[in-house]
Amino acid sequence: MLFCKKEENCLIFMGLACLCKQYILQSRSEKGRQMRKLLIAGNWKMNGTQDSVSSLLGGLIEKCTSTDVDWLVCHSFLYLAEARAALKGTVVALGAQNVCDQESGAFTGEVSPNMLKEAGCTHVIVGHSERRHVYKESNELVSARFFSALDHALVPILCVGETLDQREADQTLDIVFAQIDAVLKVLPAGDVREWVLAYEPVWAIGTGKTATPEQAQQVHDAIRKKLQEHDAQMAESVRILYGGSVKPSNATELFAMADIDGALVGGASLSSDDFSDLAR
Ligand code: PGA
Repeated sequence: MLFCKKEENCLIFMGLACLCKQYILQSRSEKGRQMRKLLIAGNWKMNGTQDSVSSLLGGLIEKCTSTDVDWLVCHSFLYLAEARAALKGTVVALGAQNVCDQESGAFTGEVSPNMLKEAGCTHVIVGHSERRHVYKESNELVSARFFSALDHALVPILCVGETLDQREADQTLDIVFAQIDAVLKVLPAGDVREWVLAYEPVWAIGTGKTATPEQAQQVHDAIRKKLQEHDAQMAESVRILYGGSVKPSNATELFAMADIDGALVGGASLSSDDFSDLAR
């Protein structure tokens, strides 16, 4: 194919721009990665049966072996004991999907932080959008659950995110910051206990719609800056995961972003092939 000089220059320029973008992404991500190891966390939600959970665990044990990333799966309460036995001696950690804000007593249907620890959990999700929107958990309740986990040496994964209406009304950061503030106003600067944030735009959860890497990075960057205002050290160490239709085909680009430190994965975590492929 023949190009005139002007078109040739244009093509060369576009090629160079593309290479530069890739180089910048790579060097930024390498810097971020050095400080914060990638965490790939599966959220199985209310899925599975005894049989399917056993075979999924078998697949994970076989395929999720890389120590370049941290692996975590968050099971339904009912399968924690079985998962604990299956995951013993593997690099896959065990988490739950919610925790009570109280230690014990008359709280029907809730599970205490000590029960989760006894069941072998190291992590627990709090404030998932399905808890916030379907079960109407407020920022205050989510914050209380967060501290219930933290105070019992469980690592809370605080989920935040806006709905489509809120994004379209340009309220994304207002919503996300209010969700984070409910925790930060209680968490003193200088607190070095481990916790994780997960930015999950509600419109991208289970819909097949993913935020573009740039859209996600924009919010992650704003969150990191917000944490910085609270405590610079905390901002460097807290991992900020992205969640919302993450799958092997979009993970590479998302993980290349400087402030995306891993993923909270729903649908794709129900296949051991897809889940393990996220680390490639
Ligand atoms: P999804 O779910 O990957 O199926 O969108 C993510 C989540 O709800 O954590």
